[in-house]
Amino acid sequence: MIRTISSPTATASVFLAVLVFLTCLSSEAEPNLLNSSDLPLVPDLPLVPDLPLVPEILEFLDQRLAVIYPVIQAFKSIITLDPLGITKTWQGPDICNYQGFYCDSPPDNNSATTLASIDFNGFQLFAPTLEGFLDQLPDLALFHANSNNFGGMIPSSIAKLPYLYELDLSNNRFSGPFPSVLLGMPDLTFLDLRFNSFTGSVPPQIFAQNLDVLFLNNNDFDQRLPDDIGSNHVLYLTLANNKFTGPIPRSISRALSSLTEVLFLNNQFTGCIPYEIGLLNEAVVLDIGYNRLTGPLPASLACLDKAEQLNFAGNSLHGIVPEVICWLGIGKNLMNFSLSNNYFTNVGPWCRALIERGILDVRNNCIPNLPSQRPVSECAGFFSRSRFLCPRIWTYNYVPCSRPHPSSSDVPLIPGSAPTP
Ligand SMILES: *[C@@H]1O[C@H](CO)[C@@H](O)[C@H](O)[C@H]1NC(C)=O
Ligand SMILES: *[C@@H]1O[C@H](CO)[C@@H](O)[C@H](O)[C@H]1NC(C)=O
Ligand SMILES: *[C@@H]1O[C@H](CO)[C@@H](O)[C@H](O)[C@H]1NC(C)=O
Repeated sequence: MIRTISSPTATASVFLAVLVFLTCLSSEAEPNLLNSSDLPLVPDLPLVPDLPLVPEILEFLDQRLAVIYPVIQAFKSIITLDPLGITKTWQGPDICNYQGFYCDSPPDNNSATTLASIDFNGFQLFAPTLEGFLDQLPDLALFHANSNNFGGMIPSSIAKLPYLYELDLSNNRFSGPFPSVLLGMPDLTFLDLRFNSFTGSVPPQIFAQNLDVLFLNNNDFDQRLPDDIGSNHVLYLTLANNKFTGPIPRSISRALSSLTEVLFLNNQFTGCIPYEIGLLNEAVVLDIGYNRLTGPLPASLACLDKAEQLNFAGNSLHGIVPEVICWLGIGKNLMNFSLSNNYFTNVGPWCRALIERGILDVRNNCIPNLPSQRPVSECAGFFSRSRFLCPRIWTYNYVPCSRPHPSSSDVPLIPGSAPTP
């Protein structure tokens, strides 16, 4: 009967029927969906070469690749823009050589070959969702998709991917609240959500997770940081360019003690900088520029032995710049210390030495006899408006480590009775 049909549309529908039949047969008989040697041969089918639906006879390197082949092809079919022609390479059974796809043996079987990582960085692909793709790649360990145009929801079933530990969705079009599915992924160590449009608040549990890297900058998160942000071992945390508000919590030192980069710039943090900031002793970069912070600089910052860059520019900080902090640029590693656009009124000899060496930037403050300062009227206006009430003000002069004393340059400062911070 099949052989008597001749019109092209009828032929196409027969092919469709055969295709559906074959698919059902093979999936019932064998999990090996695309291993054609198990399929019954249908003899004498009319050949219609330009019909795209003809099932290809594909030989996969491994069963695990056969299983994800239709997943990849389905994703390819929803990609609406591919300016670099990446997906042209996504055809045939050799998935390990598709552009952006990388194979390896999975942790549960050394002799198997599977799709272990995806690197779509910079591919500029447009797709409305990753649902049905990212969550259907069971052996995936790394997914990097910086600078694409993926959107929609982050698929909730990615929590079931047992090996996924790096997820980079930066510079895409994700929006809505923080994807709570990520809270259920204790093995995630690298999470990069930068440059999207996430809003609302970041659940505090994420700070207590096992992450080494948490990049949240350039979104629209607008919340106070919880007073107790838990304790964790994050090495890189960027909150920059959001709308975080409220004070920097005192728990920061406990919570973020292994942090090497503290990037809080361009938010709306208010209040005084807590003494505890000086206990972040792994910090190499500490950037709290362009917030709404006020009060003095805590002298505890002088204990950041590893600090190379300190940025407090663009706040309403005032008072004397503690000399002992400037010593970091003389005896330690400090190379860039920016206090510009604040209301500081005094710097001592060590700080002046750093200004001369181009390390310390105090432009646009209120320091008499230095160039590029604010007009006197502006400074007077600020000081007449402001009330300087920092909590625990006695902690601001306390240096919780041994440092040379500014007035007797070789004698280390021996802290007296420690104030209880
Ligand atoms: C297909 O199945 C046959 C027999 O069932 C097997 O020998 C062959 O290795 C399979 N091919 C692939 C690619 O799995
Ligand atoms: C490991 O993978 C190989 C290749 O896919 C397969 O033949 C073998 O059965 C697998 N072993 C186990 C224990 O699953
Ligand atoms: C110092 O840091 C500030 C703020 O992060 C930056 O704008 C400036 O370019 C840096 N200066 C140098 C010399 O690296």
